[in-house]
Amino acid sequence: MGEDYEKAVDRELRKIESVKRVKDQDLYEIVEEVFDSSTIMTIMDLQRRGCIRSLKGVISAGKESRVYWGIGKESNELAVKIYLTLTSEFRRSMWKYLAGDPRFERYKGLSPKKLIYMWAKKEFSNLKKLYRAKVNVPKPICVSNNVLVMEFIGEKGVRAPLLKEYYESAKPSDEELQELFSAIVEEIKKMYMNAELVHGDLSEYNIMIYRNKPYIIDVSQAVLKTHPNAHGFLKNDIYNIARFFSRAGLEVPSPEDIYRYIAS
Ligand SMILES: Nc1ncnc2c1ncn2[C@@H]1O[C@H](COP(=O)(O)OP(=O)(O)OP(=O)(O)O)[C@@H](O)[C@H]1O
Ligand SMILES: [Mg+2]
Repeated sequence: MGEDYEKAVDRELRKIESVKRVKDQDLYEIVEEVFDSSTIMTIMDLQRRGCIRSLKGVISAGKESRVYWGIGKESNELAVKIYLTLTSEFRRSMWKYLAGDPRFERYKGLSPKKLIYMWAKKEFSNLKKLYRAKVNVPKPICVSNNVLVMEFIGEKGVRAPLLKEYYESAKPSDEELQELFSAIVEEIKKMYMNAELVHGDLSEYNIMIYRNKPYIIDVSQAVLKTHPNAHGFLKNDIYNIARFFSRAGLEVPSPEDIYRYIAS
């Protein structure tokens, strides 16, 4: 182990030391040991840029990513999604969506770390497109490396329920279910017609219900409607939604009819 190695260790240690000097106690509490030093630097950079004031508790801890509740510079509530590792499952599902992307060849040469950065950037740009097209999505705020900052869907640190949770806890009436179903179909149509995107992983787990309105989340994998599999993905999204509402006891049109309504 030569001098270079020692220098590298020293550099990493100094980075960690500098985190300890962060005055904001909230950020420090969260930084813990969960993140590697480059993630810590990225969070600090976002803090310097005024995107994040502080990070609070964990909202969701998945295999590949974690979502934190945070506070922004105007005391606004944030959801901070941090992509952590590229599991082989993640990589496999990623390629399913990237395979028809015009930038595919370029992506193939990326390191796992750069692939994750690209994925976070893709989620941010999809969110921007959707937000501009007035689809109900969390407002995108900032992105840097593997960290994506967006509007928090919920209040005072309590996130809104996912469609599945909402159905199980709020026990909506048939009328309410009908309204939600129609509203979700309208969001899919806006995504397709106005933003020219297909979600590709839509289900009761990627829709939040806030103030009686559906919010579409988790859009990193969304593809352009010109993607060779866009129609297959759209059919699948529609099928998932129709199945959920049909199981909830609602009479829904056939997936084919919904597809025709959305895509024409
Ligand atoms: N903008 C937001 N506001 C509030 N909560 C959010 C927001 N975005 C995501 N969440 C919460 O974090 C969870 C995970 O987010 P998301 O679906 O984007 O990630 P994921 O990659 O599917 O992670 P997982 O594998 O854990 O499902 C969501 O189910 C939701 O509970
Ligand atoms: Mg999800």
